[in-house]
Amino acid sequence: MKPLYDRSLKPSGKLFFTGINAQRRVKWTIPDSRGHKENNSTEMTVNSFKILMQQDVKNLFPESKVMGFSGSPRKGGNSDIILQHILNGVTENQFPTDSLRLADCQYQPCIGCERCRKDKICTGLMDGMSFLYPKIINAKGLVLVSPTHNYNITAWMKAFIDRLYCFYDFNNNRPRGWSSRLADQGRKAVIAGVCEQKSKEDMGFTLDAMRRPLEALGYEIIGELTVFGVFDKAGVKKQSHTMIKATELGSNLAKLIGN
Ligand SMILES: Cc1cc2nc3c(=O)[nH]c(=O)nc-3n(C[C@H](O)[C@H](O)[C@H](O)COP(=O)(O)O)c2cc1C
Repeated sequence: MKPLYDRSLKPSGKLFFTGINAQRRVKWTIPDSRGHKENNSTEMTVNSFKILMQQDVKNLFPESKVMGFSGSPRKGGNSDIILQHILNGVTENQFPTDSLRLADCQYQPCIGCERCRKDKICTGLMDGMSFLYPKIINAKGLVLVSPTHNYNITAWMKAFIDRLYCFYDFNNNRPRGWSSRLADQGRKAVIAGVCEQKSKEDMGFTLDAMRRPLEALGYEIIGELTVFGVFDKAGVKKQSHTMIKATELGSNLAKLIGN
């Protein structure tokens, strides 16, 4: 039988496997945005993941809530702060939010096994992403924030976006025509990038690298934020106009997912 997860995967970061017993139960622990562990430990059985596999995501209409992901490895850094302000704008409008730092979630990049063609969710890798898929599916609103690393999004954000490949349906033509099972569900997103330098050129592909895949997946990008000239950890707090704009974006997102 194919192993349920890579046993060589060593616990690292904040999301880790704590064991697997005879009932094939996988236990996960993941901190929430404030670093507290969700209910002390969040458990997800392989069975519940199978239930998700059996459901057609096309028919699972998302709830009016917002899920935010920060792609920075720097805890409490600029991306985390920008994300928090965007989510503050959502909560001000009485919509629920949840957020995670991708660097706290143990997952691998897509291995291109194409098992998702048949299974309709990623089954080639059973890792932290298996925990994140239900959160993405359930939330109508999505916020992605990444610092610029070498003119692009961070490796965490890139790997996260690649793992959303499992939401595509392809036909058998070459090149294959495709559609997204997340499309036509009113999904909306806000994206933000932050970098040290002062020009759009120095931010490189950061915004494009989030916008284009999200649009392909069926999200409408309702707002974007580019933040320049910030290097120091939490230095963005000094840019009051950025904090205000971030909160406004969150507020707009809330209004649109509520419609
Ligand atoms: C590996 C690495 C590569 C970076 N590459 C760029 C870059 O190409 N352009 C730029 O303007 N800033 C670059 N920066 C600076 C960060 O984008 C900047 O410090 C940002 O504020 C970090 O945000 P954070 O606190 O959310 O991690 C780089 C930083 C690191 C660590």
